[in-house]
Amino acid sequence: MTDSTFRALVITEHPEKAFKRTIEERRISDLPEGEVLVRVHYSSLNYKDGLSSIGNRGVTRKYPHTPGIDASGIVESSASDAFKSGDEVIVTSYDLGMNTSGGYGQYIRVPAAWVVPLPEGLTLKEAMAYGTAGYTAALAVDALLKNGVTPEQGGVVVTGSTGGVGSVSVALLAKLGFEVTAATGKPDEAAFLKMLGASGIVSREDVNDESGKPILKPQWIGAVDTVGGVTLATLLKSLDRGGAAAATGLVASPDLPTSVFPFILRGVSLLGIDSGETPMALRQAIWGRLAGDWKLPQLNALMVDCTLDTLGPEIDKILKGQQRGRVVVDLES
Ligand SMILES: NC(=O)c1ccc[n+]([C@@H]2O[C@H](COP(=O)([O-])OP(=O)(O)OC[C@H]3O[C@@H](n4cnc5c(N)ncnc54)[C@H](OP(=O)(O)O)[C@@H]3O)[C@@H](O)[C@H]2O)c1
Repeated sequence: MTDSTFRALVITEHPEKAFKRTIEERRISDLPEGEVLVRVHYSSLNYKDGLSSIGNRGVTRKYPHTPGIDASGIVESSASDAFKSGDEVIVTSYDLGMNTSGGYGQYIRVPAAWVVPLPEGLTLKEAMAYGTAGYTAALAVDALLKNGVTPEQGGVVVTGSTGGVGSVSVALLAKLGFEVTAATGKPDEAAFLKMLGASGIVSREDVNDESGKPILKPQWIGAVDTVGGVTLATLLKSLDRGGAAAATGLVASPDLPTSVFPFILRGVSLLGIDSGETPMALRQAIWGRLAGDWKLPQLNALMVDCTLDTLGPEIDKILKGQQRGRVVVDLES
């Protein structure tokens, strides 16, 4: 293929730690080495993309940089026998969009080991309606199920419930028959959360216990947490005997001010969720479920469309915790 140009969002560093976003023409030859060149049709917006866009060195070390930890598209060329030109694929996780040019460009070039064939039952756009956030939610739900959490034992709670990981978690757990309580800082989004399947809605403050008590009244058998800090500690103290909490995020804090009491008095489990480096067999199994028996009927209703040109305000919103559901970026329009 000739060294054609393509459009990409580029973050550049300026004096006094200012980071600016521009849409630029880039060349295929600018992309890193890799076995599979993919023409990106869709990407999506995750919290991590917001951090990469404002110069967070924990996510992206070097600028100029094109973020986008998610991409779905069509293989343009492949040096690996595992893929051929024309294959529909998903690329999420690993280093995409962190220190490898990401999905906010019309092309990515990545190792074959990062590429997942698009499962039957999912379009390229639907794959990005899930994206890393939805995939992470599915990993968290899978972990709860593997830990023996069932709807017969009690209800579950999801924090940051209007966000990407949270909204897909609410919908998935409800689809699987759980009674889901959604904890949110956005009381005006009650109708959205009910549409996803939440049967109860509580405020963020209700799951942020500052009393210092070592254990609280048991309320739930399972939890998906995106918030961290005192909130995750509160969930651990509020789980029923044998319950489990899946820790996915840290939007409030990376700290965990807990004691051992929930673990030794109620036998609760804290399950760590890492979407970045999941083994490929599990990765493909989870994508298969998202395309199959776990496919959400609300997928269209929980996504908002944008293009590279309208992505900026959406990035600002996710950084302020104001997003709802998932933002899908159309790279073809
Ligand atoms: N473990 C992994 O592999 C993995 C993968 C993906 C994401 N994550 C992490 O998961 C978290 C959520 O990601 P996301 O893409 O879902 O982000 P998101 O769409 O921005 O959702 C985060 C939600 O958290 C709530 N929130 C925001 N600020 C808060 C605060 N200060 N205190 C309490 N709640 C707050 C808001 O929901 P409400 O208004 O409804 O409360 C917000 O919509 C992030 O920390 C991200 O880095 C981890």
